[in-house]
Amino acid sequence: MRSFKTILVTGGSGFIGSNFIRYLLGREDFQGRVVNLDALTYAGNPENLADIEASLGGSRYFFEKADIRDLAAVQAAFERHKPDAIVHFAAESHVDRSILGPADFVTTNLMGTFNLLEAARAAWKDRSDVLFHHVSTDEVFGSLGEGGSFSEETPYDPRSPYSASKAGSDQLVRAYGHTYGLPATISNCSNNYGPYQFPEKLVPLMILNMLEGKSLPVYGDGKQVRDWIHVEDHNAAVWLVMREGRAGRTYCIGGENEWENVRLLGRLIELVAEEAGLDPEKLRSLVTHVKDRPGHDRRYAIDCSRLKSELGWERAMSFDEGLRSTVRWYLGHRDWCERVRSGEYRSWMDKNYARR
Ligand code: NAD
Ligand code: DAU
Repeated sequence: MRSFKTILVTGGSGFIGSNFIRYLLGREDFQGRVVNLDALTYAGNPENLADIEASLGGSRYFFEKADIRDLAAVQAAFERHKPDAIVHFAAESHVDRSILGPADFVTTNLMGTFNLLEAARAAWKDRSDVLFHHVSTDEVFGSLGEGGSFSEETPYDPRSPYSASKAGSDQLVRAYGHTYGLPATISNCSNNYGPYQFPEKLVPLMILNMLEGKSLPVYGDGKQVRDWIHVEDHNAAVWLVMREGRAGRTYCIGGENEWENVRLLGRLIELVAEEAGLDPEKLRSLVTHVKDRPGHDRRYAIDCSRLKSELGWERAMSFDEGLRSTVRWYLGHRDWCERVRSGEYRSWMDKNYARR
């Protein structure tokens, strides 16, 4: 079992990364320090960790505002903090944005990962008591028909600029493990939901639009299928892989919880109606089928039997409980939503969604 003194978390001010830092700093099996390296793009918000900064800033929690595309900045953070593990969340993560503007996806997801690997290789040399954990997505495997599921053996078949850039970054991590002996693990996870998710993604976008009486845009026929997992279950799996996963190995993480988009939206409508005291019929009338996402993947599903049998992982959160608590979180954080949706995000939405 590995143990770490200083973990460098990239993208720790985003959705999954901020949840990971909170999870990690609350655990008894980690007593070390966390360095959050984040460029604070539109998706990164220091407010997500304001409580951690207030209680542990300067003792166990450190923030470095840096862009992973800047090798010198990454090397300086390595030099300053001397991490013995990296968990790499930082990425451009939204498929729609990658279709409208792929350049940032290539530079951040590919070049940024390359820079981190180079910095780790130079700093760690041939150390074996270190780990580079790369957080990736099930989208690298492409799209499924009605049956079957993705596993670690599934060949890569990325179909959007986002998934192609993530697939390339996965392969770079593998290559550094193989060629330079860098101790590395990779995880490929399905769709996350939970607190602090930026409201451009399906679940928070729909909740907020319902509360604001705006239309609920369903892409195409809405029969695309996603496998939903609560962010805390994902992060528990990432931590388990970091502690006990075999170097050089990939682990698929999924919720074993497939939902057609329209069915999920129906369930969200029921929950928001109950929790916010709104009329479900009025909410249903907001559902609008819009032009489909170009190249939209039809179905994702994950077979996570390796993670379960090798490392003993089990999903802790039921979907009903997780979705309801997520709805409650957004209801209780309207100010946060308003703040993250203002500025750059608002103008991006106005420009790109006005056309639908
Ligand atoms: P997010 O968009 O919410 O957060 C990304 C974070 O990375 C932000 O804090 C942002 O400021 C930071 N960042 C972006 N570009 C950067 C750069 N050039 N330098 C430094 N920091 C930068 O993303 P998320 O949903 O939390 O996803 C985190 C990771 O998990 C990504 O690698 C994503 O591919 C992967 N993943 C996400 C999901 C999901 O459902 N959201 C599922 C599987 C895997
Ligand atoms: O599968 C893992 C991936 O899940 C992650 O790698 C990505 O970072 C993450 O963004 C997510 O990608 P998706 O494209 O599946 O997520 P998104 O929330 O954008 O969309 C979920 C589904 O809902 C998808 O089929 C598109 C559809 N959709 C989405 C939005 C935002 C709609 O129908 N309407 C919408 O307005």
